[in-house]
Amino acid sequence: MTQLKLVGFSGSYGRPSKTSALVDYIAELACDRYNLARSVFDLTDVGDTLGVAKSQNDLDANATAVLKAVVESDLLVIGSPTYKGSYPGMFKHFIDLIDPEQLRGKPVLIAATGGGERHALMVEHQLRPLFGFFMAHTIPTAIYASNRDFSGHEIVSPALLERIGFAIDELAAFVSRKSGPTGD
Ligand SMILES: Cc1cc2nc3c(=O)[nH]c(=O)nc-3n(C[C@H](O)[C@H](O)[C@H](O)COP(=O)(O)O)c2cc1C
Repeated sequence: MTQLKLVGFSGSYGRPSKTSALVDYIAELACDRYNLARSVFDLTDVGDTLGVAKSQNDLDANATAVLKAVVESDLLVIGSPTYKGSYPGMFKHFIDLIDPEQLRGKPVLIAATGGGERHALMVEHQLRPLFGFFMAHTIPTAIYASNRDFSGHEIVSPALLERIGFAIDELAAFVSRKSGPTGD
């Protein structure tokens, strides 16, 4: 039985980045729990060709590799910083290059960071409908983290850690479905 692949994608260029720290944390926990192969990328991994690409064919080798990893994943953890109450334009542009069929039915755990609490519903009002367009299976529990949930780039909020635990529990159904009826 081949190991299922979990891919994390952070829609941030920042290094260090709170969004990437959140995606890394979720991805590591999920992979340890379900014995998944893990890869995590950010917008800096995608690189400069993204900004001028009108289709996947305009991306260079690095960007193509990231996009391929995302669409070929068994489970996806998507994280986005909040910009002006939504996701950043460049993150959306990366998603815009994905064909509608390429994420159909894919389990997607959605997460976001923001400076404060005011835009906490950005995960429900922006990210969930975006993946709804693709007919992906967004995990019921979405994760939003504000500056107060971090010390530097480390997650310190017990409430956030508990919520991440709920979301990871909810991945179980998709892992067993993808692993086949025997679960092996
Ligand atoms: C251009 C810009 C717009 C932002 N807009 C919002 C916003 O509308 N709401 C919010 O809570 N935080 C906003 N922020 C703060 C970021 O969402 C927050 O710092 C985020 O955690 C940054 O993630 P990163 O460390 O991965 O880059 C904004 C930041 C920038 C740079």
